[in-house]
Amino acid sequence: MVRINAALATAGLFLTTTTAVSTQVASGFAASDGSISFALNIPQNDSNNDLYFSMQADASVSWMAIGMGNNKMDDTLMLMVYADSTGKNVTVSPRLSYGHTEPSYTKNVTIAVQPGSGISNGNMTVNAICSNCRSWKGGSIDPTNPTAKFIFAIGPDGSINSNSESANIKRHSTYGAFTMDLTKAVGAAQIPIIATSDSSGTIQTQDQTDHDFSPPLHACAMVLAFVGLMPAGVLILRVMKSPKWHGYNQALSAVLAVLGALLGIYAGTMYNRSRNWNSAHQIFGTFIIVALIGQFVLGFMHHRIYKQTQASTKLAPYHVWLGRVIIPAGIINGFLGFPLALNPKYNWALLALTLLMVVVFGPIMFWRWKRNANQSPPGNPSDSDGYQNQPWNAGPSSSNIDLGGYGQRDHPPQPINDPPPNYNYQIPTQGRDFV
Ligand code: HEM
Ligand code: HEM
Repeated sequence: MVRINAALATAGLFLTTTTAVSTQVASGFAASDGSISFALNIPQNDSNNDLYFSMQADASVSWMAIGMGNNKMDDTLMLMVYADSTGKNVTVSPRLSYGHTEPSYTKNVTIAVQPGSGISNGNMTVNAICSNCRSWKGGSIDPTNPTAKFIFAIGPDGSINSNSESANIKRHSTYGAFTMDLTKAVGAAQIPIIATSDSSGTIQTQDQTDHDFSPPLHACAMVLAFVGLMPAGVLILRVMKSPKWHGYNQALSAVLAVLGALLGIYAGTMYNRSRNWNSAHQIFGTFIIVALIGQFVLGFMHHRIYKQTQASTKLAPYHVWLGRVIIPAGIINGFLGFPLALNPKYNWALLALTLLMVVVFGPIMFWRWKRNANQSPPGNPSDSDGYQNQPWNAGPSSSNIDLGGYGQRDHPPQPINDPPPNYNYQIPTQGRDFV
């Protein structure tokens, strides 16, 4: 809620320039939900095409903006305001918008911030003069228009703290539209006082809350896939010894990751930081998703060939090693994703989840490795690498290993103590190479 500076308003105080006069001429707008207020003064006989304006919103919002020239984002010139690096003053950024994407800074417009601007008493306030502000590519301000179209929006809570006029922003939490009678705004040049209510001729036509679901859904899908399901799939194979359920689980995680990538691709189209597909997160993420699809194909083909030949395949080590690279790579990419989405503090949550995964899964893997190492015949080369422990070299007590679980219906029961042909220690017999 905007806490309007009542003292300022009731005192009728207004900030003046060299051409100050004692009567105020301006049109005002105050959003019905109190999210933002705006007042505009159009100096008459002004060769610079200046506009004088004031704007205010609650200091908790990350940004506030008014767009001129249309009742939707298309073709508007936006006056966007956010906290500067000190958090006490404001940066005013003129931006052009051509659709449902983050508007881009334009240097054709110059904005001079005036006294009275800043962040104090719970308000973010700006008083400013905008030069060369009455026409732009796609629109214009016509001082004779009694129903000129405007839009407004505020960003989600937060603080941008940037002096850059092209700072990255998040999508709005509230937006809307109004019309203004500009004939009432024309007069002597002066910064208008903050509007406490709509002036005559101002009508609000839209008010909408909004949330950008695609980045959080993308994040949830990816974190669930890479930190949850995929490591669990390794456990299913190595501890539960079930290639069948490993396959199902990893197929599910791959589908989730691909759907998550589609959401990421969509989110990326909206923001200047990602529209050109040049962030490390997007590039690295694309490689990971391609590798993941390759990994799925490798696992699937290995499974098919195994079913035909009952022997391990040459694809096995590639599948194992690609898997060992993809999972950590995906998790690392998550650490690049949160800062890209302007949520760097969530990296702590991702770190906590990753450590939780290691703390829960690590001891189980270690226990299994120890058990298999103890049960293996001495001198067995694979003993040194418990992670690669194979069911046919685990001792007899491991005969509950579900070789048939691959499954019991698909294959005749196999001897469990001998490795498959081509396996790197060499008793020629059959067996299931768990990869
Ligand atoms: C990161 C920046 C922004 C993004 C990604 C963005 C994106 C979008 C999207 C996707 C919609 C459609 C929402 C829906 O139909 O559910 C929308 C609508 C809208 N936005 Fe934005 N927006 C941004 C900044 C702004 C700013 C700065 C303003 C105001 C000055 C604004 C004003 C509006 C308005 C009035 C609408 C409804 C009218 C329309 O469909 O264009 N937006 N925006
Ligand atoms: C093709 C692959 C990928 C693409 C195109 C992609 C795209 C994106 C984009 C554009 C964003 C920023 C959205 C914004 O600015 O609001 C983002 C955020 C994010 N991405 Fe990705 N990504 C991909 C893969 C991954 C992978 C493999 C992970 C693994 C965990 C991941 C995790 C995240 C996370 C955690 C965020 C932060 C979301 C938020 O804070 O709301 N992404 N991604």
